[in-house]
Amino acid sequence: MAPDARLNVEPNSSQQPSHRAIDNGNPTIYKPKWLVLDDVNIDLITFATFVASTISILFFRYTLTPTLLVAAAIVLPLRLFFPRPKTPEGLVLITGGSSGIGAELSYIFANRGHDLIIVGRNEEQLEAVKENVEKKFQRKVYTISSDLSMPGSAKALYDHVVGKGFQVNVLVNGAGLGGAGDVFEQPIELAERMTYLNCITSVQLTQLFGRDLIKRGKGWMLQISSVGGWMASPGQNLYHATKHYVRAFSEALSIELRAYPGIVNTQLMPNPTHTQFVTRAHADETPMMIAATEDPKYVARAGYNGLCKGKRMVFSSWNAAFNALQMQLLPRSVHLTIASLMNAPLRGAMTMKEPEKRQEKRGEKL
Ligand SMILES: NC(=O)c1ccc[n+]([C@@H]2O[C@H](COP(=O)([O-])OP(=O)(O)OC[C@H]3O[C@@H](n4cnc5c(N)ncnc54)[C@H](OP(=O)(O)O)[C@@H]3O)[C@@H](O)[C@H]2O)c1
Repeated sequence: MAPDARLNVEPNSSQQPSHRAIDNGNPTIYKPKWLVLDDVNIDLITFATFVASTISILFFRYTLTPTLLVAAAIVLPLRLFFPRPKTPEGLVLITGGSSGIGAELSYIFANRGHDLIIVGRNEEQLEAVKENVEKKFQRKVYTISSDLSMPGSAKALYDHVVGKGFQVNVLVNGAGLGGAGDVFEQPIELAERMTYLNCITSVQLTQLFGRDLIKRGKGWMLQISSVGGWMASPGQNLYHATKHYVRAFSEALSIELRAYPGIVNTQLMPNPTHTQFVTRAHADETPMMIAATEDPKYVARAGYNGLCKGKRMVFSSWNAAFNALQMQLLPRSVHLTIASLMNAPLRGAMTMKEPEKRQEKRGEKL
């Protein structure tokens, strides 16, 4: 197959198998890699070392201190020094860049010297983010207004961006929509729109832009998922189901990407965060969202830091990690009861404080 003229790259011989698999769509050429020092294998080595040390101490009567020292000598250098951090470079495309976590990521990337393409529907807020970035960080921002919950919108966005001659090096899938309430009361179109926006568009953008990153041998992708991806939630049923999809997709992608060196895929797992998301999802009267105290600024920073470190998954805070862990470990009966209580509307008894809507106002504090 001829090299891709648009990207002006020759297939790199070290990436031949996977590169050809992409062009030919031939899964037999795809070669999974196992001996890679990525953070999946580092977690695996950590776990194996922990199990081996415990067995040695409990069953073979090894002395505690030397065994722990040996375990630490194996695990700590790996955890502290690998994988080598790779700071993102080049043009960043952020869906959901007009508000909340996506807007905060725009400011972080611009502050680190990146030019941006930001996508959303609200043109006024896209322009406000653009103005903030250009004024404060002197970076170029290109705005695109697009409804990404529509079928075909990912391909249309990709064609538009590539047609304008842009080369995207960093993709952030941030646009998302929630929806509180009983599924029987929700319009059936909501399931379609939410699934398109939260799942299908993100996957298709990952495929489309990801292929270009692979061909260039370098790139970064940040998927904004949710701690909700660990929960089955009566009252936020559809939304958390879509985030299960994102979590499974992104985790498995990290392993598939071992065949494509140079590409980082990080999943950000925010706890409930104080953004317009909560009011748009009509979840401002639920205990889960009333407790939504995380600041989108810090959530975005956690995502950016995770991307720089090549992590496959990062939580927005220790609290978020704890919530995901307990939801994983609890018996399902307890899990479902807690999730249902956390998502039950308080019917006027308490409401979340209104989040900041205007990016003009956010700009004053940048
Ligand atoms: N806030 C939370 O509690 C929380 C917790 C966990 C995960 N998350 C995830 O974090 C991501 C960002 O959410 P956020 O908290 O920053 O909420 P937000 O302030 O409401 O931002 C959502 C962004 O998505 C864009 N968007 C929504 N529908 C769209 C559509 N149909 N087409 C194109 N863009 C669309 C919005 O742009 P326009 O307004 O311009 O359309 C906005 O920029 C989402 O994926 C969400 O699921 C949020």
